[in-house]
Amino acid sequence: MDDSKNIRKLIENLDDLPTLPTVFTKINNLIQDPKTSAVALGRAIGDDPSLTVKILRIVNSAIYGFPSKISTINQAIVVLGFSAIKNLVLTSSVFDLFKADKINDINFDLNDFWGHSMGCAIIANTTAKYLQIKDTESIFVSGLLHDIGKIVYFQYFSDKFRIVLNRVDGSRVNDVCKIEDEVMGFDHQHTGRLLSEKWQLPQVLIEPIAYHHNPTESRQYSKQTAIIHISDIIATAMELGSSGGGNYVPQVSEDAWNNLGLKLSVLEPIIKETKDKYDDIVSFLMPAENR
Ligand SMILES: [Fe+2]
Ligand SMILES: [Fe+2]
Repeated sequence: MDDSKNIRKLIENLDDLPTLPTVFTKINNLIQDPKTSAVALGRAIGDDPSLTVKILRIVNSAIYGFPSKISTINQAIVVLGFSAIKNLVLTSSVFDLFKADKINDINFDLNDFWGHSMGCAIIANTTAKYLQIKDTESIFVSGLLHDIGKIVYFQYFSDKFRIVLNRVDGSRVNDVCKIEDEVMGFDHQHTGRLLSEKWQLPQVLIEPIAYHHNPTESRQYSKQTAIIHISDIIATAMELGSSGGGNYVPQVSEDAWNNLGLKLSVLEPIIKETKDKYDDIVSFLMPAENR
């Protein structure tokens, strides 16, 4: 069987794939139900002590920058609202996927990957605030998840992924998607899309994952996709971690840039704000076992 069929088969087999914890599905269902009260949601989250701790860590990090400490889940629900809480549960579930539980001899460092994803998420979140786009939490989560397809390669196809990484390293053009396509049959955008569809993530998260290197292909959420496209490139240029794609800084799509109507003058404050937040957030949120 060739590898693209192999990958498709793997993705279609839910049991073999990284799964989001059942608590995410449970909380998600509760939030979708208009009858759910804040107290019931708080109780459901409170039933999972490790989730509670993780959510409070995120809420109290520089991502939100609240002036005073939020010490209970109920307080967090009141301050943030249901939809932000849903994204927090997703963020905390995603953190578990970045655990370095698989020792691998390939040139792919989960710490660096995590750093790149977090860098992109912070830049995207900051950019969305500058653009006064609502739902900055979703944009943060899609930044965190944008390269998630690479985790599938890393965990399940490490031999082929090694070939990809070696070719990326030695390539002048450094077009990682094209190399993945040739070696794996799919690029990491497509694999990430299949995984996020399997996880039943909303389209606002799926499109930036599926099109962050080809932002003009996005249909429904072109602004969100353009933000992740640009933030990914800025994170690479700032050398915040590495997604295993070498140091080459790709060109920003002119269409994506124009779609957002970003002024060049906002780049400096966005970069400064990111620098101020990055170390703090990474040291605060990175899974302890990765440090
Ligand atoms: Fe990517
Ligand atoms: Fe990336």
